[in-house]
Amino acid sequence: MESAKPEEPATQAATEVKAEVEDEVTPFNIAAASDSGIDYDKLVDKFGCSRMTDELREKIERLTGRAPHRFIRRNIFFCHRDLDIILNRYEQNQLFYLYTGRGPSAEALHLGHTIPFIMTRYMQEAFDVPLVIQITDDEKFMYRPELSQEQVAKMAISNIKDIIAFGFDPEKTFIFLDTEYIKELYPNVTKVQKAVTLNQIKGVFGFNDSDPVGKYAYPPIQAVPSFCNSFPHIFGSRKNVPSLIPCAIDQDPYFRMTRDVAARLKYEKTGTFYSTFFPGLEGMKGKMSSSSLHNTILLTDSAADVKKKINKYAFSGGGATEQEQREKGANLDVDMPYQYLRFFLEDDAELAQIAEDYSTGKMLTGQIKQKLIEVLSTYLKEFQERRKAITDEDVKKFMEVRKINPVPKKFEEAR
Ligand code: TYM
Ligand code: TRP
Repeated sequence: MESAKPEEPATQAATEVKAEVEDEVTPFNIAAASDSGIDYDKLVDKFGCSRMTDELREKIERLTGRAPHRFIRRNIFFCHRDLDIILNRYEQNQLFYLYTGRGPSAEALHLGHTIPFIMTRYMQEAFDVPLVIQITDDEKFMYRPELSQEQVAKMAISNIKDIIAFGFDPEKTFIFLDTEYIKELYPNVTKVQKAVTLNQIKGVFGFNDSDPVGKYAYPPIQAVPSFCNSFPHIFGSRKNVPSLIPCAIDQDPYFRMTRDVAARLKYEKTGTFYSTFFPGLEGMKGKMSSSSLHNTILLTDSAADVKKKINKYAFSGGGATEQEQREKGANLDVDMPYQYLRFFLEDDAELAQIAEDYSTGKMLTGQIKQKLIEVLSTYLKEFQERRKAITDEDVKKFMEVRKINPVPKKFEEAR
């Protein structure tokens, strides 16, 4: 390691120490400096995003005629770029579409991946708009030295079945694999490649000179599904339909670049809507990721797996003994069972009661873990039933380049 060099000047050592205590949030790594997790409030300012507001939550409620999703009510989707502009336009009967994606790097998705897909599903239903889902087989082949194209292709199909099982509307959803759909994307890809310099890519993504050239070439490919003319079978010759991207905030570097280029190419700037990370079982320091299996709950896990993982690995903010818990209560900020319930327990009143009882010591660690095990087992059981029913035919249907009517029903009626 470079930091082991004895003759290092003091100033350099000082900056290195500082770098170590700062949160790291990139598309490639998430690491919080503090045990209580990423400082999202700081991150919003650092990235230059806008905070979610009560006004926006109310607007979503008004436009969709229903209470916003729990992820919105609880500020799990906590910041955005131009969500306000997109909602204002929608209010005036102007269309937008949803865009999200997945890089197939494992056979099964984990609970962290459900966050953007649950949100996207809710938004598609609530706003009745088209959705495109990019499956980046090219990206994962390039980024993962250990993966062959055959392995990625196989994981992609399995991931697509998982994604379909979230319940997307087959009439309004187009799922595409980069290596298959590239012909339609390529004119826009070359426009972006011409407009972005190597220095910009290095600056945004931090690649170095020994990285494969394909890594530098990839970000434009994630950019272009945000331009509606990449999908003539959906938008025809329309040029002015903006996209809105629900995902976790790790993807922001791509879309900062995308918005910058859009302005220069005279395309609509994409809007984004970002979530915090669903944490790993072991604590708030990192996000749930496929790299550590006892830190992770997979969508293929059985009820018995879930029970075992939560009882054994879920970091607890409760007292070390029953007596200590009764006396002092739990620290909810670092307690994984509570944090997971914030994501998955629908009932606001019940969640508030649990927070009250557990933080004051009326509820015990074993009890909150039991509650979480019930909630997650039910969710996974229902998901797995839907997943089992997804066939190769369904995959074909969602991936078929076909006409899709982009107009929400309520706009058609207003005509
Ligand atoms: P990927 O496959 O790493 O992640 C897929 C999506 O899941 C989100 N995510 C999480 N959200 C909450 N908590 C977590 N622990 C967690 N882990 C992952 C990611 O933010 C992402 O939304 N390059 C992308 C693929 C992509 C994409 C897109 C993503 C292509 N186009 C457009 C979002 C929007 C990737 O490898 O994602
Ligand atoms: N009915 C209005 C119109 O014809 C609204 C409308 C039609 C519309 N098509 C749309 C709104 C597409 C958004 C997108 O102009």
